[in-house]
Amino acid sequence: MCGIFGVTGDKDTTELLIHGLKRMEYRGYDSSGICLNNEELIRKRAVGPLSNLEPLVVDLPDSKCGIAHTRWATHGAPTVENAHPHVSSELDVAVVHNGIIENEVELRNFLKSDDKELEFESETDSELVAHLLSKELKKINSKIKNITEDQILSSWKNVIDKLEGSYALAAVISGREDSILFARKFAPLILSHDGKRGLLASDVSCVVGLSESVFYLEEGDWGIIKDLGVKIFNIDGDTVELKPKKLEWELGDAELGGYPTFMLKEIYEQPRVVRDCLRGRLSRDKIKGVKIPYHPRLLRIVGCGTAYNAGLLARYYIEQLSKIPVILDHAHEFRYGAPSGPKSLVVGISQSGETADTLAAIDAAQERGYPTLGIVNVESSTIARNVDHIIGIRAGPEIGVASTKAFTGQVLGGLLIAMKLGQDSKNFHREDLSYFDRHARMLPTSMERMLNDQNIKTKLWEAQQYFSGKNHAFFLGRNTSYPIALEGALKLKEISYIHAEGYAGGELKHGPLALVEEGTPIVVIASEGSSHKKLLGNAREVSSRGAKVIFITHQEDELADSHADLVIKVPRTHDLLQPLMYNIICQLLSLNIAEERGCNVDRPRNLAKSVTVE
Ligand code: M6R
Repeated sequence: MCGIFGVTGDKDTTELLIHGLKRMEYRGYDSSGICLNNEELIRKRAVGPLSNLEPLVVDLPDSKCGIAHTRWATHGAPTVENAHPHVSSELDVAVVHNGIIENEVELRNFLKSDDKELEFESETDSELVAHLLSKELKKINSKIKNITEDQILSSWKNVIDKLEGSYALAAVISGREDSILFARKFAPLILSHDGKRGLLASDVSCVVGLSESVFYLEEGDWGIIKDLGVKIFNIDGDTVELKPKKLEWELGDAELGGYPTFMLKEIYEQPRVVRDCLRGRLSRDKIKGVKIPYHPRLLRIVGCGTAYNAGLLARYYIEQLSKIPVILDHAHEFRYGAPSGPKSLVVGISQSGETADTLAAIDAAQERGYPTLGIVNVESSTIARNVDHIIGIRAGPEIGVASTKAFTGQVLGGLLIAMKLGQDSKNFHREDLSYFDRHARMLPTSMERMLNDQNIKTKLWEAQQYFSGKNHAFFLGRNTSYPIALEGALKLKEISYIHAEGYAGGELKHGPLALVEEGTPIVVIASEGSSHKKLLGNAREVSSRGAKVIFITHQEDELADSHADLVIKVPRTHDLLQPLMYNIICQLLSLNIAEERGCNVDRPRNLAKSVTVE
């Protein structure tokens, strides 16, 4: 989704702004722009990739301050007019904005009522902020250089007070060549300052390598960043003394490191994610460092997309190991349901920790008085800061829009909760944990072996051929392999644009079977226990209707051989961990298919990495 970057106090402002925009490309965008803050504001914008903006900024004059933006269209089509930065009519203010101004209509009328001649250049809600600030400044003095900094700050506060909705904002004023005004509410924004250079960004990845520590603004914080320092105020206008926090990620995390794509890099990082996520939390006799507010009677899990699929697997695990019932909701549907009973616990799963729907579900849970727990990757994110306790999955930055390594971490987070509650309720015993621990310690090596297995690579290539020229595919699972079927289908559709659906095998005869025809590729993901045999039956059902069946299972499964056109076998591990191995095969299969179709796997069309609007 949209990204904001700002620089003050650096002689290479244009270069830095473009660098920041490149770092945010992974989030998804359809236009971009920058504005340099000199005696006059200099603005350049372009639709499409950053390579369309770059030629427009090569000959810009030196400047020591500027703001930049990548836009993901919400209000108005992706056009140059709608691209940020937006300016006031007299070009005295430029603004970049992430979020949605909900009282847009009222503000538009308010501005118009005052100035009937006022023309809006764009269809965006963001442009209004530039006009509002310009209007406030003019009320003080028509010459900006005669306005004091305190007056600028109070004008900015007046503007912010008028805004309803969500925003991360940065604004520059012509003639104020070292200053950027900022504000945040329900949208992330961070600052950094080394005494000479100030940076402002909506995304940590922009400042990685440029700064070692950052200020994480709180909801409602606003202020001014200049070459010499930062002034931060809270919603009531009181000065805030924020302590800088060490950046949790390093430069290499945000770079390809020799891999052709971030998606491939992140798939290969999964053995490391397992090691890091379980480090210090899992031992032979105890789950440590996993804080759960109380032993709940009911768990509610919320998440979107991949995080939802991870939540579904977590649901199976929690119910199986602790016998506590779990209700899983798409985060955006949670608020429409009835409140849970007493002693409920709400668990929000999110890689970015900024997904607006998940954030809203957490808020709703808190309003209903329930304790909340977050399974998150970005530990400085809004969700991480809003929940009562977090389990950080320690996956490192996930740049590819398709979530891969985060799924593994999210499932492990769910498993830790399941085992902890299982121990507390005496359903998961010390010997169960010790047995799990043995396998979990070997899991990263098994994953590495699988990722480098030539035979598996050949099988994946053969499987990929079944998708050639196809526009529809199915993924089937049962029990704990059902979430993997959903996730496998999500991965395939989002990066290859092949229509794919994940089904529980038992659902097949209730409708989807009608779609199976000669050559339909169907990926069947092995499950554990008695459900496996039923799944083999499902494979037969589709096979006898002409489908091409690819069976993903483990090395000890001999039954699958006679039930599929192609069987991909992976190393055997603990039943609770086996789905993670299968999921990696699905990720690789989707990646190979998408690349063969010429798709950009890191930046699929229409999608954003972090969905910060509801
Ligand atoms: O950052 P989050 O985990 O909250 O994101 C949730 C979904 O938007 C995300 O998982 C999305 O479905 C991915 N693109 C799937 O690969």
